[in-house]
Amino acid sequence: MAKNFVVFGATGAQGGSVTLELLKARNNNNSNTSNINKYNILAVTRNPHSPRALALSLAGATLVRANTEDVHSLHQLLQDAHAHLIFVVTDFLGVDGDSARELQQGLNVIEAASSPACLDTLEGVIWSSLPDARRQPVAYENMVHFNSKRAISERLWSSPLRSKVTEVWLAAYYENFVNSWGIYEPRKQPDGSYILQYPINADSKIPFMSVVDLGKLITVIIEDPTKYHTKVVSFVSEWHTPLELLESFRKATGVEAKFQSMTTEQFKQHLETSLHFPANVALSMAENLSCYRTNPNMITDYTDYASKDLLQGLKTWDDF
Ligand SMILES: NC(=O)c1ccc[n+]([C@@H]2O[C@H](COP(=O)([O-])OP(=O)(O)OC[C@H]3O[C@@H](n4cnc5c(N)ncnc54)[C@H](OP(=O)(O)O)[C@@H]3O)[C@@H](O)[C@H]2O)c1
Repeated sequence: MAKNFVVFGATGAQGGSVTLELLKARNNNNSNTSNINKYNILAVTRNPHSPRALALSLAGATLVRANTEDVHSLHQLLQDAHAHLIFVVTDFLGVDGDSARELQQGLNVIEAASSPACLDTLEGVIWSSLPDARRQPVAYENMVHFNSKRAISERLWSSPLRSKVTEVWLAAYYENFVNSWGIYEPRKQPDGSYILQYPINADSKIPFMSVVDLGKLITVIIEDPTKYHTKVVSFVSEWHTPLELLESFRKATGVEAKFQSMTTEQFKQHLETSLHFPANVALSMAENLSCYRTNPNMITDYTDYASKDLLQGLKTWDDF
């Protein structure tokens, strides 16, 4: 019998990877015993007419409309969907870094998924989250996009869904290097040179992965879902120092960029003044990078499974 997999954020980086990888795996998989073949993908979007939504529809997903800030739309969606599996990702920068809104998105999905109509068919919830930066060897209190995700997790783990939950903790995307509002990439200076500025040391190691690979990890989880129920899976492909990033950048582009280490406060000021981030988002992003100076294993510590033990062939930084 066909099952329904509701993918939130399907038109975005994470949900898009999950949707496209599942559709690809389904098309390439002739095995009768594979779970992948059983799923219809219900791709959630606020706008089924957007080019990204239409591309998913062409690829074989069924588009469903809902807004995670409108709990009634979620009740409607999850009542009608007969969902067996749900992938949940919340938005942060898309709501101007308003962590209270991000939190509410997650709570709304939990509320709707906990309704008897949804629980009737639901077999699993995969929640894209992050670790608690406040409970690390060196604590970081102001990473609001981590804190909101932990608050969503707390609700999830005390909800009727708790026995079916898998959390996935994601490292920084390689894709941030070209698509992060200027936070991660080398920036061209007035004299034509390029500088990469991070609030870490030249030899600090940042955990990375390609978000395009997320779908592969989710496919592994889906093949044996109960194994991952109530577990946390970390998703890191490689750790890289700023100097390693720039060496590959030089090889790929021919551009020689310099690294400049900053303090957290200097980086926060840079995000506020040069990139016009609101103060709280600038602080959150500055601490998010600074924390790798002291806690390079934050994504992998306190988890049950690591992506490198579950699948091979993840994209490397040089590939990217
Ligand atoms: N960048 C990183 O390195 C990194 C690392 C770890 C975790 N994260 C986390 O990743 C999350 C963002 O995921 P992403 O990169 O996949 O985002 P993205 O590419 O910006 O896409 C955002 C997605 O969210 C959907 N969406 C936004 N608001 C919605 C709403 N109110 N109702 C329904 N859908 C909504 C959008 O769908 P429609 O517009 O089609 O409705 C879109 O599909 C953030 O929470 C961030 O903290 C990022």
